[in-house]
Amino acid sequence: MPVIAFANSKGGSGKTTSALLLACELAEKAAVTIIDADPRHPVTKWAAPKPEKTAPPEKLTVVQNDSENTIIEEIEAAAARDPFVIIDLEGVASKKNAYAISQADLVIVPMKEQQQDAEAALDIIKELVNISKMTGKKIPFSILFTQSKPVAKSRTARFIASQFRDNPALDCFEVELHERDAFSAIYTMGGSIRALDPKQTNGIERAIENVTGFVAELIAKLRGQGASKEVRAA
Ligand SMILES: Nc1ncnc2c1ncn2[C@@H]1O[C@H](COP(=O)(O)OP(=O)(O)OP(=O)(O)O)[C@@H](O)[C@H]1O
Ligand SMILES: [Mg+2]
Repeated sequence: MPVIAFANSKGGSGKTTSALLLACELAEKAAVTIIDADPRHPVTKWAAPKPEKTAPPEKLTVVQNDSENTIIEEIEAAAARDPFVIIDLEGVASKKNAYAISQADLVIVPMKEQQQDAEAALDIIKELVNISKMTGKKIPFSILFTQSKPVAKSRTARFIASQFRDNPALDCFEVELHERDAFSAIYTMGGSIRALDPKQTNGIERAIENVTGFVAELIAKLRGQGASKEVRAA
């Protein structure tokens, strides 16, 4: 415990990357399981041993999910074993995603500052509300802007972000995961951003700062601080 799921039915919104960054950073200190619930298994592929790739952090366990019939059992087993469970979901609306979301203590909805991502984020939030009603359990959620520009954002990006940030019914992470080479390099190099070679990847320090900021805000939310309280009460 806690169980944190990454969901947005828009492909490429940043679910897998954000889930991996979080899992690796938490695994610096604590035991973490990441459940790879996407049938294309991007997390399992990232973790697969190869001579030219760095291994995942020692405290990180990757569980490959193959069926909606086993997802709840896998989440329960991981939550009984490890202090953090992270679930990477496929970018679709499916029974498996609904099962996983029903078990989550927090659902993170990653999105780019783009119209299609915004629409898909609102769809998943509606689904979350329905799952909450169906199960009788409040499922807190928070929007995470990903792949954003740290400076000189476009007018459209600012407009879309403000529509979410200014809506009191929606909780958003203050921290955004910016568009950074280091964040996509982990797929090629394996391991976490901390294991990247500065000779091969630019901006590793800034990428680490960005992720530690995200993790600190997440921990604060999980401790019931900040806006997630309002989400629980909604
Ligand atoms: N913050 C980031 N900085 C740089 N590249 C990123 C970032 N986030 C994601 N990417 C890249 O964008 C692409 C899509 O990201 P990712 O696979 O995380 O999205 P997803 O929501 O999991 O997609 P899918 O629905 O297909 O599973 C990947 O190639 C990834 O490397
Ligand atoms: Mg993915």
